[in-house]
Amino acid sequence: MEQFVIKGGKPLHGEVAIGGAKNAALAILAAAVMTDDTVTIENLPDVRDVNVMLGAIEGIGGRVKRPDPHTVIINGSAIESLNVDYEYIKKIRASYYLLGALLGKYKKAEVALPGGCAIGSRPIDLHLKGFRALGADVDVSYGLISAEADRLTGAHIYLDKVSVGATINILMAATLAEGRTVIENAAKEPHVVDVANFLNSMGADIRGAGTDVIRITGVTRLHGTEYSVIPDQIEAGTFMFAAAATHGDVLVKNVIPKHLEATTVKLLETGCEIVEFDDAVRVIATNTVLRPTSVTTLPYPGFPTDMQPQMTAVLGLADGVSTVTESIFENRFKYVDELARMGANIKTESNIAIITGVQGYTGARVSAPDLRAGAALVIAGLAADGFTTVDDIHYIQRGYENFEVKLQGLGADIEKTSDEREAQKFRLRVS
Ligand code: UD1
Repeated sequence: MEQFVIKGGKPLHGEVAIGGAKNAALAILAAAVMTDDTVTIENLPDVRDVNVMLGAIEGIGGRVKRPDPHTVIINGSAIESLNVDYEYIKKIRASYYLLGALLGKYKKAEVALPGGCAIGSRPIDLHLKGFRALGADVDVSYGLISAEADRLTGAHIYLDKVSVGATINILMAATLAEGRTVIENAAKEPHVVDVANFLNSMGADIRGAGTDVIRITGVTRLHGTEYSVIPDQIEAGTFMFAAAATHGDVLVKNVIPKHLEATTVKLLETGCEIVEFDDAVRVIATNTVLRPTSVTTLPYPGFPTDMQPQMTAVLGLADGVSTVTESIFENRFKYVDELARMGANIKTESNIAIITGVQGYTGARVSAPDLRAGAALVIAGLAADGFTTVDDIHYIQRGYENFEVKLQGLGADIEKTSDEREAQKFRLRVS
């Protein structure tokens, strides 16, 4: 099993380039099969989740070419199966985006029902409510979601809760429905906007993405396009927090600073200096005594839940008591016990973590419980005194491309190793 071995205590310095947004890419890939024409997608992150989604598309008969790791050419004209297997859904929940895409295009789709996951129960009732409102018969039985309609017709849909997944899934199906759909209380995340822009570039008529009311006028067909995925705000934020935790000075390039505002504000509150450029953000924490603060996760433009563990890793080193409130997912503090093994002083009470800052972390052997928590443990390891080993890094590889290579480029002593001999070799080299 691969691991990251880290010798901490070195401030990160230099420049890092951010890749395409994983969560935008996953939905865009699903939407790409909604036309029979060929679609080219650029700035694709070469991460596990994206590769699983491409496998799912091939699994239903889509043609996929990969001229380079960051470009994919997809053709959905030869799709022969409308049934997406559990093999994919168990690896990535986002393969449920094929439900909206196939239902829109073929008026029929079957996708295995996603199970629970490490951060809490994740219902999909709002997705199904949306499909039903568009006129589909939706049945959930034998571990499958089946949706079918003679015709889909536009509808007025109010989402009881702000949901990225439901917004995107309904958006896709409504694009090829007859007439007008209005989604109220829609998610405003940058990747929702990116998916809408992508669909519009294929001939869809979607307005208002990025606000809480999205209006879609259905079209009869979509055409091919070439599209470049937006930069990943969560990857960018992760490097910003790594700079803060290690008292480094890092220029995070190829970002849209507006998407990072919530992260930027919180880093300013902890005492870091932030310099914004057109497409880059520099975090300077060289002489910063990190200050405590409070954070609550909220839908965009609030502080992203996907940055919550990384933020906690930073606040664990602040000079005082901070609180982090998780308002999106019910069980997203599982990693706290792992951070405690590195010396963090964190208590959780229901959805609130109370963090009493410590002088420093100490290296330990820890295990990534999920993707973002795994990134938080790497951040802690980079800041810690001594060696940290992070196990279960396959979670981290779901969403970070060449994480260790990018960190090495910032001067970090980190190595991906596959056995104890390699780990020992690395430890000797950097000792
Ligand atoms: C997406 C992101 C994930 C991120 C999350 C919140 C992808 C692939 N994943 O997940 O990384 O953490 O947004 O920003 O883009 N809910 C319901 N019923 C539903 C759907 C959602 O009650 O039908 C609830 C969820 O339990 C949760 C909240 O709504 O409490 C938000 O979830 P949602 O925005 O749907 O998250 P995902 O799209 O699954």
